Amino acid sequence: MSERTDTRRIAVVTGGTRGIGQAIARRLAHDGLGVVVWDLDPVVPAGDNQDWKADHIQAVDVADPISVERAMTQTLEVVGGVDILVNNAGINGPVKPLWEYSSEEWGRVIDVNLTGVFNTCRAVVPHLVDRGWGRIVNIASIAGKEGVQNITPYSASKAGVIGLTKALAKEIITTGVTVNAVAPVMAATDLLDQMTEEHIAASKGKIPMQRLLEVSELAALVAWITSEECSFTSGFTFDASGGRATY
Ligand SMILES: NC(=O)c1ccc[n+]([C@@H]2O[C@H](COP(=O)([O-])OP(=O)(O)OC[C@H]3O[C@@H](n4cnc5c(N)ncnc54)[C@H](O)[C@@H]3O)[C@@H](O)[C@H]2O)c1
Repeated sequence: MSERTDTRRIAVVTGGTRGIGQAIARRLAHDGLGVVVWDLDPVVPAGDNQDWKADHIQAVDVADPISVERAMTQTLEVVGGVDILVNNAGINGPVKPLWEYSSEEWGRVIDVNLTGVFNTCRAVVPHLVDRGWGRIVNIASIAGKEGVQNITPYSASKAGVIGLTKALAKEIITTGVTVNAVAPVMAATDLLDQMTEEHIAASKGKIPMQRLLEVSELAALVAWITSEECSFTSGFTFDASGGRATY
Protein backbone atom coordinates (compact mmCIF):
# COMPACT_ATOMS: atom_id res chain seq x y z
CA MET A 1 0.00 0.00 0.00
CA SER A 2 1.29 3.48 -0.80
CA GLU A 3 1.78 5.97 2.06
CA ARG A 4 -1.44 7.91 2.57
CA THR A 5 -0.92 11.66 2.42
CA ASP A 6 -4.43 12.58 1.26
CA THR A 7 -6.55 13.76 4.20
CA ARG A 8 -9.85 13.47 2.31
CA ARG A 9 -12.20 10.57 2.96
CA ILE A 10 -11.96 8.14 0.05
CA ALA A 11 -15.13 6.48 -1.27
CA VAL A 12 -15.29 3.45 -3.56
CA VAL A 13 -18.49 3.50 -5.64
CA THR A 14 -19.27 0.35 -7.62
CA GLY A 15 -21.11 0.83 -10.90
CA GLY A 16 -20.16 4.50 -10.69
CA THR A 17 -19.69 5.37 -14.35
CA ARG A 18 -23.43 5.55 -15.03
CA GLY A 19 -26.86 6.18 -13.57
CA ILE A 20 -27.34 6.25 -9.81
CA GLY A 21 -23.71 5.33 -9.14
CA GLN A 22 -22.47 8.20 -11.26
CA ALA A 23 -24.79 10.61 -9.39
CA ILE A 24 -23.40 9.33 -6.07
CA ALA A 25 -19.80 9.60 -7.29
CA ARG A 26 -20.42 13.13 -8.57
CA ARG A 27 -22.08 14.22 -5.32
CA LEU A 28 -19.29 12.81 -3.13
CA ALA A 29 -16.64 14.43 -5.36
CA HIS A 30 -18.49 17.78 -5.11
CA ASP A 31 -18.56 17.35 -1.33
CA GLY A 32 -14.75 17.15 -1.34
CA LEU A 33 -14.23 13.40 -0.99
CA GLY A 34 -11.83 11.36 -3.06
CA VAL A 35 -13.76 9.02 -5.35
CA VAL A 36 -12.75 5.67 -6.78
CA VAL A 37 -15.09 3.98 -9.25
CA TRP A 38 -15.18 0.23 -9.79
CA ASP A 39 -17.21 -0.61 -12.88
CA LEU A 40 -17.50 -3.35 -15.46
CA ASP A 41 -17.44 -0.57 -18.05
CA PRO A 42 -14.78 1.82 -16.70
CA VAL A 43 -15.58 4.75 -18.99
CA VAL A 44 -17.73 7.69 -17.93
CA PRO A 45 -19.76 8.63 -21.05
CA ALA A 46 -18.50 11.80 -22.77
CA GLY A 47 -20.46 14.78 -21.51
CA ASP A 48 -21.14 13.21 -18.10
CA ASN A 49 -17.72 14.08 -16.69
CA GLN A 50 -17.54 17.84 -17.22
CA ASP A 51 -18.25 18.79 -13.60
CA TRP A 52 -16.58 15.98 -11.62
CA LYS A 53 -13.63 13.66 -11.79
CA ALA A 54 -12.88 10.33 -10.15
CA ASP A 55 -9.45 9.95 -8.55
CA HIS A 56 -9.26 6.47 -10.01
CA ILE A 57 -11.48 4.30 -12.21
CA GLN A 58 -10.96 0.58 -12.27
CA ALA A 59 -12.43 -2.13 -14.50
CA VAL A 60 -14.06 -4.62 -12.11
CA ASP A 61 -16.67 -7.34 -12.32
CA VAL A 62 -18.13 -7.33 -8.80
CA ALA A 63 -19.44 -10.86 -9.41
CA ASP A 64 -15.85 -12.13 -9.72
CA PRO A 65 -14.03 -12.31 -6.35
CA ILE A 66 -10.59 -12.32 -8.01
CA SER A 67 -11.44 -9.16 -9.96
CA VAL A 68 -12.61 -7.49 -6.72
CA GLU A 69 -9.51 -8.49 -4.73
CA ARG A 70 -7.32 -7.17 -7.53
CA ALA A 71 -9.27 -3.90 -7.58
CA MET A 72 -8.84 -3.45 -3.83
CA THR A 73 -5.08 -4.02 -4.07
CA GLN A 74 -4.74 -1.59 -6.95
CA THR A 75 -6.98 1.00 -5.28
CA LEU A 76 -4.83 0.95 -2.14
CA GLU A 77 -1.73 1.38 -4.30
CA VAL A 78 -3.23 4.40 -6.07
CA VAL A 79 -5.09 6.25 -3.30
CA GLY A 80 -3.59 4.73 -0.14
CA GLY A 81 -6.80 3.89 1.73
CA VAL A 82 -10.57 3.47 1.61
CA ASP A 83 -13.10 4.91 4.09
CA ILE A 84 -16.45 4.41 2.35
CA LEU A 85 -17.88 1.65 0.18
CA VAL A 86 -21.04 2.24 -1.85
CA ASN A 87 -22.30 -1.03 -3.33
CA ASN A 88 -24.34 0.24 -6.23
CA ALA A 89 -23.47 -2.00 -9.23
CA GLY A 90 -26.51 -3.99 -10.27
CA ILE A 91 -28.52 -5.41 -13.12
CA ASN A 92 -32.24 -5.94 -13.55
CA GLY A 93 -32.29 -9.10 -15.66
CA PRO A 94 -35.15 -9.89 -18.03
CA VAL A 95 -38.78 -9.21 -17.12
CA LYS A 96 -40.73 -12.50 -17.18
CA PRO A 97 -42.26 -15.13 -14.90
CA LEU A 98 -39.95 -17.16 -12.66
CA TRP A 99 -40.47 -20.42 -14.58
CA GLU A 100 -39.25 -18.84 -17.82
CA TYR A 101 -35.86 -17.88 -16.32
CA SER A 102 -32.92 -20.08 -17.26
CA SER A 103 -30.51 -21.04 -14.48
CA GLU A 104 -27.90 -18.82 -16.17
CA GLU A 105 -30.20 -15.76 -16.18
CA TRP A 106 -31.14 -16.37 -12.54
CA GLY A 107 -27.51 -16.90 -11.57
CA ARG A 108 -26.15 -13.75 -13.20
CA VAL A 109 -28.63 -11.48 -11.38
CA ILE A 110 -27.83 -13.11 -8.02
CA ASP A 111 -24.08 -13.12 -8.76
CA VAL A 112 -23.94 -9.40 -9.58
CA ASN A 113 -26.53 -7.99 -7.18
CA LEU A 114 -26.01 -10.14 -4.08
CA THR A 115 -22.73 -12.06 -4.35
CA GLY A 116 -21.16 -8.86 -5.71
CA VAL A 117 -21.94 -7.12 -2.42
CA PHE A 118 -20.46 -10.09 -0.52
CA ASN A 119 -17.30 -9.95 -2.66
CA THR A 120 -16.70 -6.23 -2.17
CA CYS A 121 -17.52 -6.30 1.55
CA ARG A 122 -15.16 -9.24 2.07
CA ALA A 123 -12.39 -7.31 0.35
CA VAL A 124 -12.99 -3.93 2.02
CA VAL A 125 -14.44 -4.54 5.52
CA PRO A 126 -11.20 -5.74 7.21
CA HIS A 127 -9.48 -2.58 5.95
CA LEU A 128 -12.25 -0.33 7.31
CA VAL A 129 -12.32 -2.15 10.66
CA ASP A 130 -8.53 -1.81 10.97
CA ARG A 131 -8.87 1.93 10.49
CA GLY A 132 -11.66 2.19 13.08
CA TRP A 133 -14.04 4.22 10.93
CA GLY A 134 -16.06 3.46 7.84
CA ARG A 135 -19.37 3.69 6.06
CA ILE A 136 -20.91 1.05 3.83
CA VAL A 137 -24.08 1.76 1.86
CA ASN A 138 -25.74 -0.96 -0.19
CA ILE A 139 -28.16 0.11 -2.91
CA ALA A 140 -31.06 -2.33 -2.55
CA SER A 141 -34.53 -1.69 -4.00
CA ILE A 142 -38.18 -1.45 -3.06
CA ALA A 143 -38.39 -4.78 -4.91
CA GLY A 144 -36.37 -6.34 -2.10
CA LYS A 145 -38.96 -5.23 0.45
CA GLU A 146 -42.15 -5.87 -1.51
CA GLY A 147 -41.25 -8.58 -4.05
CA VAL A 148 -42.18 -7.48 -7.58
CA GLN A 149 -43.70 -9.92 -10.06
CA ASN A 150 -41.73 -10.85 -13.18
CA ILE A 151 -38.40 -9.82 -11.67
CA THR A 152 -38.07 -12.64 -9.14
CA PRO A 153 -34.25 -12.92 -9.14
CA TYR A 154 -33.92 -9.15 -8.85
CA SER A 155 -36.40 -9.06 -5.94
CA ALA A 156 -34.67 -12.00 -4.24
CA SER A 157 -31.22 -10.50 -4.72
CA LYS A 158 -32.28 -7.16 -3.23
CA ALA A 159 -34.03 -8.86 -0.28
CA GLY A 160 -30.72 -10.68 0.18
CA VAL A 161 -28.84 -7.38 0.19
CA ILE A 162 -31.13 -6.10 2.96
CA GLY A 163 -30.46 -9.26 4.99
CA LEU A 164 -26.71 -9.04 4.37
CA THR A 165 -26.79 -5.40 5.51
CA LYS A 166 -28.46 -6.27 8.83
CA ALA A 167 -26.19 -9.26 9.53
CA LEU A 168 -22.90 -7.55 8.65
CA ALA A 169 -23.87 -4.45 10.63
CA LYS A 170 -24.24 -6.61 13.76
CA GLU A 171 -20.88 -8.33 13.17
CA ILE A 172 -18.99 -5.02 13.24
CA ILE A 173 -21.34 -2.85 15.30
CA THR A 174 -18.70 -1.68 17.80
CA THR A 175 -15.92 -0.99 15.29
CA GLY A 176 -16.88 2.48 14.04
CA VAL A 177 -17.95 1.04 10.69
CA THR A 178 -21.67 1.34 9.88
CA VAL A 179 -23.50 -0.73 7.28
CA ASN A 180 -26.78 0.52 5.86
CA ALA A 181 -28.91 0.05 2.76
CA VAL A 182 -31.22 2.23 0.69
CA ALA A 183 -34.38 0.91 -0.98
CA PRO A 184 -35.21 3.22 -3.91
CA VAL A 185 -38.10 3.12 -6.33
CA MET A 186 -37.63 3.65 -10.05
CA ALA A 187 -35.26 6.33 -11.41
CA ALA A 188 -34.74 7.07 -15.09
CA THR A 189 -31.41 5.36 -15.87
CA ASP A 190 -30.07 2.88 -18.43
CA LEU A 191 -31.37 0.11 -16.13
CA LEU A 192 -34.82 0.73 -17.60
CA ASP A 193 -33.51 -0.52 -21.00
CA GLN A 194 -33.71 -4.02 -19.45
CA MET A 195 -37.44 -3.61 -18.67
CA THR A 196 -40.66 -3.74 -20.67
CA GLU A 197 -42.86 -0.64 -21.16
CA GLU A 198 -45.64 -2.35 -19.16
CA HIS A 199 -43.28 -3.01 -16.26
CA ILE A 200 -42.05 0.62 -16.22
CA ALA A 201 -45.61 2.01 -16.34
CA ALA A 202 -46.74 -0.30 -13.52
CA SER A 203 -43.78 0.75 -11.35
CA LYS A 204 -44.43 4.47 -11.96
CA GLY A 205 -48.09 3.97 -11.08
CA LYS A 206 -47.20 2.66 -7.62
CA ILE A 207 -45.34 5.83 -6.48
CA PRO A 208 -47.65 8.07 -4.37
CA MET A 209 -45.65 11.23 -5.25
CA GLN A 210 -46.53 10.45 -8.90
CA ARG A 211 -43.02 10.93 -10.23
CA LEU A 212 -39.83 8.96 -10.54
CA LEU A 213 -36.92 9.33 -8.13
CA GLU A 214 -34.25 11.81 -9.25
CA VAL A 215 -30.76 10.28 -9.06
CA SER A 216 -29.53 13.46 -7.30
CA GLU A 217 -32.08 12.83 -4.52
CA LEU A 218 -30.65 9.38 -3.89
CA ALA A 219 -27.10 10.76 -4.06
CA ALA A 220 -27.99 13.34 -1.38
CA LEU A 221 -29.30 10.59 0.91
CA VAL A 222 -26.17 8.49 0.38
CA ALA A 223 -23.97 11.55 1.01
CA TRP A 224 -25.59 11.94 4.42
CA ILE A 225 -25.47 8.23 5.33
CA THR A 226 -21.74 8.19 4.49
CA SER A 227 -21.01 11.37 6.46
CA GLU A 228 -19.67 11.83 10.01
CA GLU A 229 -23.13 13.01 11.05
CA CYS A 230 -24.86 9.68 10.41
CA SER A 231 -23.07 7.98 13.29
CA PHE A 232 -25.71 6.08 15.30
CA THR A 233 -27.56 4.12 12.59
CA SER A 234 -26.38 0.73 11.36
CA GLY A 235 -28.21 -2.21 9.83
CA PHE A 236 -31.02 0.04 8.62
CA THR A 237 -32.64 0.24 5.20
CA PHE A 238 -33.37 3.86 4.34
CA ASP A 239 -36.41 4.72 2.24
CA ALA A 240 -36.33 6.57 -1.09
CA SER A 241 -39.74 5.63 -2.40
CA GLY A 242 -41.85 8.76 -2.80
CA GLY A 243 -44.20 7.44 -0.12
CA ARG A 244 -44.54 3.91 -1.53
CA ALA A 245 -42.89 1.94 1.27
CA THR A 246 -45.07 1.47 4.32
CA TYR A 247 -42.44 -0.29 6.45
N1 LIG B 1 -32.87 2.81 -11.74
C1 LIG B 1 -33.78 2.33 -10.93
O1 LIG B 1 -34.98 2.46 -11.17
C2 LIG B 1 -33.38 1.61 -9.66
C3 LIG B 1 -34.35 1.43 -8.65
C4 LIG B 1 -34.00 0.77 -7.48
C5 LIG B 1 -32.70 0.30 -7.31
N2 LIG B 1 -31.78 0.49 -8.31
C6 LIG B 1 -30.44 -0.04 -8.10
O2 LIG B 1 -29.50 1.02 -8.22
C7 LIG B 1 -28.26 0.49 -8.70
C8 LIG B 1 -27.80 1.30 -9.90
O3 LIG B 1 -28.74 1.16 -10.93
P1 LIG B 1 -28.83 2.15 -12.16
O4 LIG B 1 -30.27 2.39 -12.40
O5 LIG B 1 -27.93 3.29 -11.99
O6 LIG B 1 -28.32 1.18 -13.33
P2 LIG B 1 -27.43 1.49 -14.63
O7 LIG B 1 -27.64 0.32 -15.51
O8 LIG B 1 -27.72 2.86 -15.13
O9 LIG B 1 -25.94 1.49 -14.05
C9 LIG B 1 -25.41 0.33 -13.48
C10 LIG B 1 -23.89 0.46 -13.45
O10 LIG B 1 -23.38 -0.74 -12.85
C11 LIG B 1 -22.35 -1.25 -13.70
N3 LIG B 1 -22.31 -2.72 -13.56
C12 LIG B 1 -23.22 -3.62 -13.98
N4 LIG B 1 -22.81 -4.86 -13.71
C13 LIG B 1 -21.60 -4.74 -13.10
C14 LIG B 1 -20.67 -5.67 -12.57
N5 LIG B 1 -20.88 -7.00 -12.67
N6 LIG B 1 -19.54 -5.21 -12.00
C15 LIG B 1 -19.30 -3.88 -11.92
N7 LIG B 1 -20.14 -2.95 -12.43
C16 LIG B 1 -21.28 -3.38 -12.99
C17 LIG B 1 -22.73 -0.82 -15.11
O11 LIG B 1 -21.62 -0.85 -15.99
C18 LIG B 1 -23.27 0.58 -14.84
O12 LIG B 1 -22.24 1.56 -14.82
C19 LIG B 1 -28.51 -0.99 -8.99
O13 LIG B 1 -28.07 -1.76 -7.91
C20 LIG B 1 -30.01 -1.06 -9.12
O14 LIG B 1 -30.51 -2.34 -8.83
C21 LIG B 1 -32.08 1.14 -9.46
